[in-house]
Amino acid sequence: MADKVAIILAAGVSSRMNTKIAKVLHEVCGRPMLAYVVDACRSAGIEKLYIIVGFGKEQVIEKFNGDENIVWIEQTEQKGTGHAVMCCKDQLADFDGDTLILCGDGPLIRPQTLKTLIEKHQSEMPAATLATAILDDPKGYGRILRDSYGNIQGIIEDGDCNPQQKAIKEVNPSYYCFKNKVLFETLDKITPDNVKNEYYLTDALHLIIEAGHKVVAVTAVAAADAMGVNSREQLSEAGKIMQGRIQDKLMKTGVTIVDPPNTWIDARAKIGQDTIIEPFTYIHGVVTIGNNCRIGPFAYLREGTVIENDVVLGVFTEVKNSTLCDSVRARHHSYIGDAKIGKGVDVGAGAITANYDGKQINTTQIGDDSYIEPGSILVAPIQIPAGSHIKPGSVVNAENIEECKK
Ligand code: UD1
Ligand code: CA
Repeated sequence: MADKVAIILAAGVSSRMNTKIAKVLHEVCGRPMLAYVVDACRSAGIEKLYIIVGFGKEQVIEKFNGDENIVWIEQTEQKGTGHAVMCCKDQLADFDGDTLILCGDGPLIRPQTLKTLIEKHQSEMPAATLATAILDDPKGYGRILRDSYGNIQGIIEDGDCNPQQKAIKEVNPSYYCFKNKVLFETLDKITPDNVKNEYYLTDALHLIIEAGHKVVAVTAVAAADAMGVNSREQLSEAGKIMQGRIQDKLMKTGVTIVDPPNTWIDARAKIGQDTIIEPFTYIHGVVTIGNNCRIGPFAYLREGTVIENDVVLGVFTEVKNSTLCDSVRARHHSYIGDAKIGKGVDVGAGAITANYDGKQINTTQIGDDSYIEPGSILVAPIQIPAGSHIKPGSVVNAENIEECKK
């Protein structure tokens, strides 16, 4: 077995979200929150993941279907974070390595923070290491208790704090690294004597210290990364922070984003150098855009869109599941769905693909260097030969292409 594994807690019923969907599946910039936590573990070098699921478990497992390095563990009753970890007892109690524990509702996690946590744990060799954060507004988070020498004493949950403890700004973002054997010896000792009547994982820390082991903390989590998403407000806040990160990364790789607050780009999108994203552009899903394109304003690009280089898409142009080859132009009010548009094609104002016949989706192909004049409707399935010039306002179908040509 590997010497390091991670447990991700994702079983909770989210009463504060008021949802019937598992909380960790709620999306931040197009991806489920849990996906970010899984990726961060993998980027930090941890392959084997034990994910605790309960509420909405079928949906969660389905989403990550096929990932062979995930072991799904069911927590049938949600009795708290300590209890959730206990559910791995059969699989992990004898594992003689280190176990990271993270929460599936912390999408802003960064691999570098996990690396810092792991390095601290490896260099000081305590029984447990926590990564903490300092927040101006620590409300809602477990507070880190330290003695007058700064040594960590444990964690107290927000609801169990006295007024002095409430004022503590150092919080627990729930990034832990434990010596696995000590962890599982300690979990048995946790009792639910707190305001929520739950088995808190956070109680493991003071119990480990009481048993004579060393616990250390590293203030490694930036305030902007610490958020655990418990409500729809926090979900939207996390989305804004993540959107900022996505756009910053794109700008560093040479993409111009004219108006960042009025642009939304999915975490899975890829955009090439010197492409300009004009305001009010919305890019959702797995979308690839090449170099030197100009997209928007008010463009809507959807799942499965591939845009090659030097493409211009203007106002109110929607593209779905289509490939637009080099130098395509669709400047005004077009819908391009399930299509392959050849090199240099000009799609005139308001020209659209009619890709759905009421029963099924059909595909459209437009050959290189064609010009589709404004207001034309291309009724799929249809193939327009290269170099065609379609008259304005044509309703083109597979039979009448020749009549519609200029
Ligand atoms: C928890 C921490 C708190 C920390 C905060 C950081 C505890 C007791 N408290 O509080 O110190 O500051 O996270 O965001 O750990 N879960 C289960 N099974 C359960 C209960 C919860 O799998 O029985 C999962 C949830 O799905 C969630 C995670 O554990 O992903 C954390 O649970 P949550 O209820 O959100 O804990 P917080 O109150 O936020
Ligand atoms: Ca939480």
